[in-house]
Amino acid sequence: MHLFYYYNHPVLREVAFLLPPLLQWRAGTFRAAIEMFRDVQGSAATFLDVGCGSGAFTRQLAVHFPNSRIDAIDLTPRMIDFAIKRNRYPERVKFRVGDFMALDGDYDAVFALYTIMLLPLKSAVEKLLDLTPDGAAIFNLTIPNTLMRLHRAFYSIFIGSQVNLYPVQRAVAEISEVAQIDDLRHVATSEGSYLIAVRRKR
Ligand SMILES: C[S@@+](CC[C@H](N)C(=O)[O-])C[C@H]1O[C@@H](n2cnc3c(N)ncnc32)[C@H](O)[C@@H]1O
Repeated sequence: MHLFYYYNHPVLREVAFLLPPLLQWRAGTFRAAIEMFRDVQGSAATFLDVGCGSGAFTRQLAVHFPNSRIDAIDLTPRMIDFAIKRNRYPERVKFRVGDFMALDGDYDAVFALYTIMLLPLKSAVEKLLDLTPDGAAIFNLTIPNTLMRLHRAFYSIFIGSQVNLYPVQRAVAEISEVAQIDDLRHVATSEGSYLIAVRRKR
């Protein structure tokens, strides 16, 4: 166990996101994920937010899709406690602690922002698609630029998990083995982040 497990400090994590570059990157990625969903699918009655953390993106979903029901899951209990305390829509947004790889469900669409990079890519994508058999799964990855290599070092010290960094071509090749790629967009360019929308192969 790490002396300082970053995900156990959701307040600190949210304060970190007040720093202009982090704020811009995350807000830009959240905005672009919603735009991408509108373009590839349009609407949905049910969403799943995988690795929801403090619930910042879950809130955006709730605001943009006011008639939707949203489940949000995260492995870290303290993140979920924090998200539940700040939940403005408790009647239609439900947070729970758990590993999404062990979750059962059928959602109209699934999001996983800043999370799939922590997991084995192909099995994580397959699981996202099990959870939305007829819909789109949207997630982001980051390229191995200098900044992201530093970020990866930070993660291995404070979280103990490996952050996987993918050049775009490699990500496309691996994901195409298990899913159909509907869209790919570079978003927070200086962060090296890109969003991918996938569906089940027909
Ligand atoms: C970098 S944070 C992203 C949080 C949020 N999506 C955001 O963009 O602010 C990654 C989150 O994924 C969660 N996580 C990692 N593996 C997971 C898994 N297998 N199932 C559910 N959550 C997971 C971690 O606990 C962490 O809160």
